[in-house]
Order: sequence, then structure tokens, then C-alpha cells
Amino acid sequence: MRAIIHTTYGSPDVLELQEIEKPDVPDDEVLVRVQAASVNPVDLYSLTGTPYLARILGGLRRPKSSNLGVDFAGTVEEVGRNVTQFRPGDEVFGRSGAFAEYVCVRDAVAPKPTNLTMEQAAAVPVAALTALQGLRDHGQIQPGRNVLINGASGGVGTFAVQIAKALGAEVTGVCSTRNVDLVRSLGADHVIDYTREEFTRNEQRYDLMLDVAGSRSWSECRRVLDPQATLVIVGAPKGSRLLGPLSHIVGVRLAAVRSSQKVVFFMAKPNRADLMVLGELLEDGKVTPVIDRRYALSEIADALRYLGEGHARGKIVLTV
Ligand SMILES: NC(=O)c1ccc[n+]([C@@H]2O[C@H](COP(=O)([O-])OP(=O)(O)OC[C@H]3O[C@@H](n4cnc5c(N)ncnc54)[C@H](OP(=O)(O)O)[C@@H]3O)[C@@H](O)[C@H]2O)c1
Repeated sequence: MRAIIHTTYGSPDVLELQEIEKPDVPDDEVLVRVQAASVNPVDLYSLTGTPYLARILGGLRRPKSSNLGVDFAGTVEEVGRNVTQFRPGDEVFGRSGAFAEYVCVRDAVAPKPTNLTMEQAAAVPVAALTALQGLRDHGQIQPGRNVLINGASGGVGTFAVQIAKALGAEVTGVCSTRNVDLVRSLGADHVIDYTREEFTRNEQRYDLMLDVAGSRSWSECRRVLDPQATLVIVGAPKGSRLLGPLSHIVGVRLAAVRSSQKVVFFMAKPNRADLMVLGELLEDGKVTPVIDRRYALSEIADALRYLGEGHARGKIVLTV
């Protein structure tokens, strides 16, 4: 099968499209023929090996795994002998080493919503799971609450706006000028253009802030938070080569230690139950993936370079 391989850390230029062995399917897994994938910032971290701290797990000198990619959609080709939930021919989406013609996956796979194309389904897993878990589990979102989403126009943000609306919140999205209409069209009740308005100086207070962009200090965030509010940190600036986004996350958490507001950072957990929750929202039309650009698998380097600019409008997908 064809797969994107990286045997050293580096820029997207180190990626190679190679012919490798198709994986054998383990007893508890399914083998999926990938038809579409999408790119995420985590692919850039894996590719570049930064922050260096992450190399403790990913491989000190060179990557332990030469595969790349997480989000996929495709068709089940074969199932392991213990698998009862899927059959060959089922259309599925999920999270596993996705930049290849075939992937094996155990839990993080679910039936593809029938109203979605493969490209739309591949746009969902990491970004939408992050938005769902950030709002529901870590932010304890409630109907009628005031929610601020900083970084509302990218992969995570476009799902977060729609999911927060579906869960009944009053939603304010923060993005740049060219994305104001997009964020409004996703259902945001209010949109703040960060190039023209300093939202941290406004009178409005929020019960929950989902910080996808990580562009503000704690002292700025706390000004717009209710005394009992929660700040859920999703993303952060690239930071130093050693610590990367961790320096922002740790800095905010330390600064907020004595505060009445709660600060949470989390890593999204891929699992079938939440993919099914998202599947329902997608089938009901309450959430629709936003696709910015499409690339062929062989154009992976261009797709990652574009993602790395940090201004994607929704998701960037690959057709495999
Ligand atoms: N914790 C987790 O489990 C988890 C999971 C997934 C992602 N993440 C992190 O979340 C972050 C976003 O991921 P993503 O997939 O959504 O990335 P993305 O698709 O590249 O989106 C980036 C977005 O950030 C916006 N942005 C840039 N500067 C901004 C600013 N100063 N204020 C407000 N918005 C700004 C951009 O909008 P404009 O073009 O309008 O500026 C763009 O739409 C990354 O740091 C990623 O590592 C964390």
C-alpha cells in the first residue's frame, strides 16, 4: 500500500510517499481502506519532534513510529476475529495513523454519518472530539450559559461554535476579519473581530471560555470571566523548542492558582462513544464540518505547510 513515511524529524520536506506492507489485522481491530484524511496540529508536532519534551515518548533521536496522521474516513476491508460491531463494507470514521491507504484501528472508530461525504467525515475526529470534550466534560457547559470561544474559525473552533449552540449556550466567537461571516453562519450569537476589538476590555462576562488560540494571558482572560467561571485551555502558542505550548499552559495555571475561577487543560481522548455522540449531531444537521482546502495524499507537505501558517478556516482534508 502507499503511505506517508517519516524516518527523521524535520519539516514537511522530509516526508516520503512510499510503498509499504499492508498491515495484518489484529484480533480486536478492523482494517480500514482510507478514502480521506485530515491534518491536525498534532501531525506537525509528531513530524517536527517539537516540543523536544514530547520526544521522551515519541523517540529521542528519530521518531519511534514512521507513520503519520490521525483522522481518517473509509470503508472496512477486514475485521479481526473478536470484532462484532463492524463488517467488511461498513463506512466508518475515526482516529489512527491515517496518511496511508490502509489503517488498523481498535476503539476510536464509529459508523460514518450517512449524510456526510468521506472528506467531511475525515474532518471530524480530533477537532470535534476536542470541542465536545472541552465544552461538555471540562467546561460543564449548560443551556443558557454565556460561552466565549477564542479561535472560533479553525478546525476545533468551527466545531466548538456549533456544538456549544447545539448544547443550548449563548455563544460568542473570536476570529479575524475575514472569518466573521463564517463564524456567524455557524450559529454564533455574537462575533468579535480580534483585529478590531479587544474583547478582554469589554463589559461582557462569560461563564465559560474555550481558549483554542491561547493568544491571551491569564490576567487578560480573567477580566471577562465570571467569578465562578471556567477557562478551558485547548491550544497555545508554539512556544519554545523545549517546552512548546506547555510554557503557556503551565504559566496560566500557575497564575490562576489563587483565583476563584477554574482553569483546566486537557488532552482529548479518542473513543467510540464520543464519536457516536458526534455522529448523531452530524446526522441531525446540528453540526456540519467546514472544509477549507483539499489536497491529494501526495501533496501532504503542502497541506501541512498551510496548516502550519495557523490560519486555516475549518479543516484541511486529504483525499487518499
Ligand atoms: N488539547 C487538545 O486535546 C487539542 C486537540 C486538538 C488541537 N489542540 C490545539 O488547539 C489549537 C488549535 O487547533 P486547530 O486544529 O483548531 O488549529 P487550526 O485549524 O490551525 O486553527 C487555528 C485558528 O486559530 C485562529 N487564530 C490565530 N490567531 C488567533 C488569535 N490571536 N485570536 C483568535 N484566533 C486566532 C485562526 O483564525 P484567524 O485566521 O481568524 O486568525 C485559525 O482559525 C492548536 O494549538 C492545537 O495544538 C489541542
